[in-house]
Amino acid sequence: MIHYKSNADLEIMRESCRVVELALSEVAKFLKPGVTTKQADKLAEQVIRDNKGVPSFLNYRGYPFASCISVNDAVVHGFPSNDVLKDGDIVSVDLGVFKNGFHGDYAYTFALGEISEEVQQLMRITKESLYKGIEKAHHGNRIGDIAFAIQDYTERKYGYGVVRELVGHGLGRSLHEDPQVPNFGKRGTGPKLKEGMTIAIEPMINMGVKEVYYDTDGWTVRTKDGKPSAHYEHNVCVKKGKAEILSSFKLIEEAELANENLNSKYLQAVQQELVEQ
Ligand code: MF3
Ligand code: CO
Repeated sequence: MIHYKSNADLEIMRESCRVVELALSEVAKFLKPGVTTKQADKLAEQVIRDNKGVPSFLNYRGYPFASCISVNDAVVHGFPSNDVLKDGDIVSVDLGVFKNGFHGDYAYTFALGEISEEVQQLMRITKESLYKGIEKAHHGNRIGDIAFAIQDYTERKYGYGVVRELVGHGLGRSLHEDPQVPNFGKRGTGPKLKEGMTIAIEPMINMGVKEVYYDTDGWTVRTKDGKPSAHYEHNVCVKKGKAEILSSFKLIEEAELANENLNSKYLQAVQQELVEQ
């Protein structure tokens, strides 16, 4: 069942998203070679609790951490660990916050130090594909229009692998609501998008093959060929004309640009392209 949100609901969801933004931006300030993803997880959880939120993922279907932190060939649902991050790693951080009865849930991929042009392009195209999907998230379209826009840009244009096993989702009082929001599909198919629907759009894009497998921890999803994968996620409300983005990357990108241990070359390229459009 799809739950449509009132303006009052949206106000609360924006606040949950704001706490996600604060936590992700603190992680963006913290990341550097030598730290562990468990430390980043603890930091994110602290920021969430300091802002009167509860980590949505903790204990969700038995998930044991506040965040999912997925490094390099890990696509999503990576366990924070004592592994030390190093130069050249790409790190996807996915966070959910439950506050005042509603969830915010979004993700961002960071790069540490020197990364190849190839990996920079993967990050840039994945982030751009998210915005291409969001452009289609308006009243009158269908879920398949979002799905097609993401797949067409990443898979057909750039030859990347679009993960089939995991999809975006409705979001609200529950972390996962209807409808499912795949990153692959046909235009004009699937549920109709109507005003007041709130969805999490989250392209998970592999540099190589689309196939994935579950690691022995039962959660971490990895690419079959061991090549890197990127993940960006926003929460949007369907409106007439243009989707409203409830989440924001603003503080995260500012922190990313200011952290000299993070590689933000790809980010400058994305911003340039958005200006040119
Ligand atoms: N953003 C992820 C998703 O929508 C949330 C992780 S699920 C959890 O599937 F189980 F790890 F919480
Ligand atoms: Co999600």
